[in-house]
Amino acid sequence: LDQYAVFGNPIKHSKSPWIHAAFAEQTAQQMHYRSHKVELGRFAEAARQFFDNGGAGLNITVPFKLDAFEFADVLSDRARLAGAVNTLARAEDGSIYGDNTDGVGMVRDIHDNLGWTFPGKRILVLGAGGAVRGILGPLLKQQPASIVVANRTVEKAQALVEIFSARGEISACAFEHLAGQQFDLIINGTSASLSGDLPPLPRQIMSAEACCYDMMYGADPTPFMRWAASEMAWAVSDGLGMLVEQAAESFCIWRGIRPETKPVIEQLRHSL
Ligand code: ATR
Repeated sequence: LDQYAVFGNPIKHSKSPWIHAAFAEQTAQQMHYRSHKVELGRFAEAARQFFDNGGAGLNITVPFKLDAFEFADVLSDRARLAGAVNTLARAEDGSIYGDNTDGVGMVRDIHDNLGWTFPGKRILVLGAGGAVRGILGPLLKQQPASIVVANRTVEKAQALVEIFSARGEISACAFEHLAGQQFDLIINGTSASLSGDLPPLPRQIMSAEACCYDMMYGADPTPFMRWAASEMAWAVSDGLGMLVEQAAESFCIWRGIRPETKPVIEQLRHSL
């Protein structure tokens, strides 16, 4: 049986083992996928041991995506651009391939599952941490009119914009300077929801048919989703679909077969 795992810390509440078991059953793949808590500072050691013991592939979650980036022998372009790796796969020659499926997972969820469109849209991205760096490359590929990255610490937004500026119309902004601007798609990539917070957003920054997407998810709407509804957003979603779509993309890299995500998203939604 081919062995897979997700490495993280904490890892107890990871839904990845359930998602990949559902994919494997649906596509009749003989594989095993478990979660594993790795001690801080021990990522390379644990990953080396996993692959030396014949492991076929890993997902990487918080806080090891940079360690996985360092660990990979070969990187995909999108992983290099993201500066982080969430998927490792052992190649036939034993070398370790590192990829990042977070950004394409989000784009797929927004486009295929929610039916929102990107071309010509004015996009606002909130936050400038690792999560946001992972989505900017795939977002710019969708031909939006522009992307504004707004962050509490505006210098971090500026640093991200420099990395991506050759790839499209992208600029940095402080939250308070968003007043007077209008956006068609607002994506929350801050971790503010974790503490029940909301970035300080001015009122009336949404266009008539604005869509709002939170990369976080939970049983209840996040503070950002509640704000979006109160500002009369045209559509609002959390990031549960992104979680399943990034997993499907990893599954595809490992097994060469694309699972259907809709039934898995629905089941997961009911289990929250
Ligand atoms: P991740 O890997 O999840 O992106 P991170 O690199 O720690 O984690 O980034 C967290 C992001 O959420 C940052 O953009 C952070 O803003 P700062 O760069 O100014 O720290 C943002 N963030 C966290 N808590 C926030 C809050 N209460 N209000 C606004 N932004 C917040």
